[in-house]
Amino acid sequence: MGKIGSTKKVLTLYHLRKIYPKYYNYQGRNKSRKLSDKNKLIIKEFYEKYSIDSDIIKYHLSKNKNKLSYNGKFSNIVLEVGFGDGEFLINKAISKPDNLFIGNEIYINGISKVLSSIIELNINNILLCGINASYFLQTLKKNSIDEIYIINPDPWLKKRHYKRRFLNKKNILLLNKIIRKKNCINFTTDAEQYFISVLNILSQDKQYFLNKKFKILTNTDKLFGVSRYQRKAINDGKKIYQITF
Ligand SMILES: C[S@@+](CC[C@H](N)C(=O)[O-])C[C@H]1O[C@@H](n2cnc3c(N)ncnc32)[C@H](O)[C@@H]1O
Repeated sequence: MGKIGSTKKVLTLYHLRKIYPKYYNYQGRNKSRKLSDKNKLIIKEFYEKYSIDSDIIKYHLSKNKNKLSYNGKFSNIVLEVGFGDGEFLINKAISKPDNLFIGNEIYINGISKVLSSIIELNINNILLCGINASYFLQTLKKNSIDEIYIINPDPWLKKRHYKRRFLNKKNILLLNKIIRKKNCINFTTDAEQYFISVLNILSQDKQYFLNKKFKILTNTDKLFGVSRYQRKAINDGKKIYQITF
C-alpha cells in the first residue's frame, strides 16, 4: 500500500489528496480546526500503514477493474461510513477484536484522531479509508461486508442540498450489493425528512428491501447515543430514527 503505479515513493495522505483530489472531494467540510503538529506527524508517519486509499485509487485508475475485499484472519468485516471523530468505530473495534473494521471518513481531523487512538491503544483491527465513500463503495466485491453503520450522516436540510445526501438511491443500491446478508445495514439520523426520504427509496425496491425495519430509538437501544452528533441531537431534544435494511 502507499505506492501507486510505478512510482517508488511512498505517498502519504497529503500527497494522495493533492495528486488525486477527485477521490477526496466533498461538498461539506473536510478539514476544520488546523491540525496540530503532532497530528500532522501521526498522519505522515502512520496513515499509509493503516490505510487502503492506494488500493482504491489504483482500482479506479486501472483498466481491468478487479473488485477489492478485505478479510484475512477476521471472522466478520464491519464498515462504518462517515465515522466523524471515531468514537463508535474505536469502541466497536475494541469490543470485537476478532472483527475487522473499515472506517471511512473524508474529514482529516477525524482521521488523525482515530489514527492517534489506533497507535496509543495498539488497535490492530481497523483499516482506514479517507476517500469519498461514493468512490470507495464502487471498489468493493459483492457480498464482501457483514455489517454497515452510517450514524447520523450530514442531513443536508435545505431542499437545494438534498442531492448531496449520502443515502441516495445510487449509494443505497451499492451498499445493498456489498452487504452479505439482508438487514445488516444500519442508518440513524435525527433528521425526520432524511429518514422519510430513505424509507421512500427503500419502499420503491421491494425485491431488495421488503424486510426493512425502522423505529425511533430509546435509551435501551444499542445504537442510542453512540456518537457525538447523536448525543448533541438528543441533548437538543431531538428524536433519533433508525432504519435497518
Ligand atoms: C454529521 S457527521 C457525523 C459523524 C459521526 N458519525 C457522528 O455521528 O458523530 C457526518 C460525517 O460523515 C462524513 N462524510 C460525509 N460524506 C462522506 C462521504 N461521502 N464519504 C466519507 N465520509 C463522509 C463527514 O465528513 C462527517 O464527518
